[in-house]
Amino acid sequence: MKETTIADCKLIDLRKISDRRGNLTVIEGKQDIPFDAKRVYYLYDVPGGESRGAHAHKELQQLIIAANGSFTITLDDGTSKKSYTLNRPYQGLLIVPGIWRVLDDFSSGAVLLCLASEHYKEDDYIRNYKEFKKHKQ
Ligand code: TYD
Repeated sequence: MKETTIADCKLIDLRKISDRRGNLTVIEGKQDIPFDAKRVYYLYDVPGGESRGAHAHKELQQLIIAANGSFTITLDDGTSKKSYTLNRPYQGLLIVPGIWRVLDDFSSGAVLLCLASEHYKEDDYIRNYKEFKKHKQ
């Protein structure tokens, strides 16, 4: 996680199967994203003005999607920062290990869908920014 930068993170345009009955997007592990998802979680009912995240992961890779509504993700590799506003259910942000992220500006009704490469492990989190900066040196 030491060497990763925000340039290793990217927006992925997912396949959208347009249909007058409703659109469909599919994500195939190791095809549309570089990992097989071992875990899926979603975040919803975020009160206006609230922020989430403020941590980094040592090993975990994630694809974050705005399944509904919108929010902003600010990525930080200890040197540079970049913000993305996600607002399309057919677009995902790939976040590699070793990136500090803060999520805010959640719209009303926003649903954040996350595909994660590993099962939940608290040991994989770095929740202290100073500690994160040390890891990146
Ligand atoms: P956390 O990842 O810290 O949320 P955020 O960074 O968005 O504020 O998770 C919040 C709580 O939920 C934390 O106590 C751990 C728990 N949790 C799980 O038990 N399993 C999971 O897969 C996730 C993502 C969180």
